[in-house]
Amino acid sequence: MEYKITCISGDGIGPEIVREAKKVLDAIASIYKHKFHYTDILMGGASIDAYGVPLTEESIHIAKNADAVLMGSIGGDTTTSPWYRLEPNLRPEAGLLKIRKELNLFANLRPAVLYDVLMDACPLKKEIAMQGFDMVIVRELTGGLYFGDRSTIIENDIRKAMDILTYDENEIRRVAIKAFEIAMKRKRKVISVDKANVLDSSRLWRTVVEEVAVDYPKVELEHMLVDNCAMQIVKNPAQFDVIVTENMFGDILSDEASMVTGSIGMLPSASLNDTKFGLYEPSHGSAPDIAGLNIANPIATILSSSMMLRYSFDLDKEADAIEKAVKEILNDGYRTKDIMSFGCKQVGTIEMGDLIASHIRK
Ligand code: IPM
Ligand code: MG
Repeated sequence: MEYKITCISGDGIGPEIVREAKKVLDAIASIYKHKFHYTDILMGGASIDAYGVPLTEESIHIAKNADAVLMGSIGGDTTTSPWYRLEPNLRPEAGLLKIRKELNLFANLRPAVLYDVLMDACPLKKEIAMQGFDMVIVRELTGGLYFGDRSTIIENDIRKAMDILTYDENEIRRVAIKAFEIAMKRKRKVISVDKANVLDSSRLWRTVVEEVAVDYPKVELEHMLVDNCAMQIVKNPAQFDVIVTENMFGDILSDEASMVTGSIGMLPSASLNDTKFGLYEPSHGSAPDIAGLNIANPIATILSSSMMLRYSFDLDKEADAIEKAVKEILNDGYRTKDIMSFGCKQVGTIEMGDLIASHIRK
């Protein structure tokens, strides 16, 4: 089959890790007889440097015409990069928010898995880590505080700023349905996270999630307050299967969950709309401090491309092949610097991509 993939290399380590993911996709294409047509677009700082804006209308148009988007990472060092002296709506992150909204990518899937072979890297107490965990956070991505009205005003000589948090029932329902559908393919447990003891938007969230749950009698539903959830992720991560939550809570909890795996360089993510289309990117950021040094871990991006094959192209066999190759290369003891441990063989970004690609070609 033929597929159109829009690639966003982005900033920092982005170009290095996307290059390795393409290498792996090319291996898949040659073994399984597919054609992947890549079109590159600029986003974030790279687009600011070229066009003065973090995402152009033309780039959005190209992305919309593809079957899926594969992305590296965007943004720079906020204390030193000139991009952060621009107005907020012209900074790199504004490009990311814009593409999410324009492509209607309302469901953001962020798996956080403790890999057996990387257990030493887990920062949790050994007795907790030993139980393992495998959760996916389904974060609402196009509503809430991120997209509500905001303003900064002066009122009675006092500076005042506002960010408005709204959700309507349709926005809640569609992301809840995604979470339950995903839970049906996993351990059939959804924990919906909110702050219903304080916020109206959370109370509506809870009500709508309960309405959706009626259609999924096989899935167990539990509600959890966000502050408690933040504690439970470090106390007992094994209890989680699917977490569904609003945009801001999901932003914070997904960073926490990825950190407790001890291997953020391994975690992919997918942002989906209500068709097969999706944007796939690593959960980690652009790490400008290590850009260009051939030490970044490309695995999160490689696994993002495998999520792309699975969710957007229905190529399960090919996705399995990538995941298997990653596991076996790790089992063989190869590690990038971020996940290096005693007795293993340290390799660079390019070598890691080569190892995974050639394992697929074997
Ligand atoms: C993320 C990032 C973004 C977000 C930033 C870069 C705007 O933290 O994808 O989690 O907050 O959504
Ligand atoms: Mg974040």
